[in-house]
Amino acid sequence: MHRIAVIPGDGIGPEVIEQGIRVLTRISQKLGISIEFTSFPWGADYYFKTGEVLPPDGLKQISQYDAVYVGAVGDPRAPRGLLERAIIGGLRWDMDLYVNLRPMKLYNEQYCPLKKIVPSDLDILVVRENTEDLYTGPSGFIKKNTDDEVGFGTAFYTKKGVERVIRYAYDQARKRKKKKLTLCDKANAVQAQEIWRRVFSLVGQDYPDVEQETIYVDACAMALVRKPQQFDVIVTTNLFGDILTDLGAELCGGVGLAPSGNIHPGRFGFFEPIHGSAPKYAGKKKANPLGAILAGGMMLEYLGADAGPASSPQGETKKGGLAIESAVAKLLRTGTLKTLGTESELSTDQIGDLVLEQIESYDSPIQSF
Ligand code: IPM
Ligand code: MG
Repeated sequence: MHRIAVIPGDGIGPEVIEQGIRVLTRISQKLGISIEFTSFPWGADYYFKTGEVLPPDGLKQISQYDAVYVGAVGDPRAPRGLLERAIIGGLRWDMDLYVNLRPMKLYNEQYCPLKKIVPSDLDILVVRENTEDLYTGPSGFIKKNTDDEVGFGTAFYTKKGVERVIRYAYDQARKRKKKKLTLCDKANAVQAQEIWRRVFSLVGQDYPDVEQETIYVDACAMALVRKPQQFDVIVTTNLFGDILTDLGAELCGGVGLAPSGNIHPGRFGFFEPIHGSAPKYAGKKKANPLGAILAGGMMLEYLGADAGPASSPQGETKKGGLAIESAVAKLLRTGTLKTLGTESELSTDQIGDLVLEQIESYDSPIQSF
């Protein structure tokens, strides 16, 4: 039995999560896995009603579950960043979920804005550091609201923090066909990032089978657009990872498609589409739920990661995750969706139906996928 805490959140969050839960429920029935969802109402409405973003023991409650499934958080009526920092940041930082795993896969060239790029050219796994950098360093304002005001923030990188995420990325690269890891930083201009270079080559000594490459973030942005074939796994800082994965998601058809996992390996994980709450589309059923559905698949893969024999419940769970990805991949290959954004000409629920159809069309989802 997998116990999942669900935070549907704000804007389009609840709509996309609803489709994700439909798909997870169906796949679990097919495979005989049992998943129990418990919903937490946190987000803007809860904040305006109660005056608090989370109950004081909110994160503690959440930590009792096996994983968390999040729609999207953020609302223009709330103070900027308050909800995001408390909920998304709270989960990532307070629960020390140091890996932000962001696969960027092109499933059908029809959705790629680049010329002459085919799916085999664009299959990149971004491993984003998720607990340090400008996001969590000391920051604030001095002499606020005066002419002499100063805004400041601090980027910081601990050796332990850098090492654990780099090691995780090497392990991921080792498992893939290309076996290549690229470190993306800005160590020429941001001196503190030299620590990434040193740790990268030190840890790299344990991975002689993995091809190792370094690139500055500006050149990386350029190369992603010019020659995405160059990349396999990319490991990068928190802020650069945020930016590069929006770029990467667009290369694969749009942020509506991109899933992510926030993970402390062996301990805890929370899974979400990388898109935001898109308030202007809230309630319109125009949002593409595929990112949320794929995030649900990643969650199952994570829950089944310590799989025993394939017949064990964990083995089925992992298969369920792979089956969800395959169902989405098959749907995208049909080209039924005009775009992967809000102009797909299909409603959020209809896209959910199409994924379910793909799942139904396999008697034995596993072998055939
Ligand atoms: C993301 C988002 C968040 C981030 C925001 C909501 C704080 O953009 O997950 O990519 O910057 O990490
Ligand atoms: Mg982002």
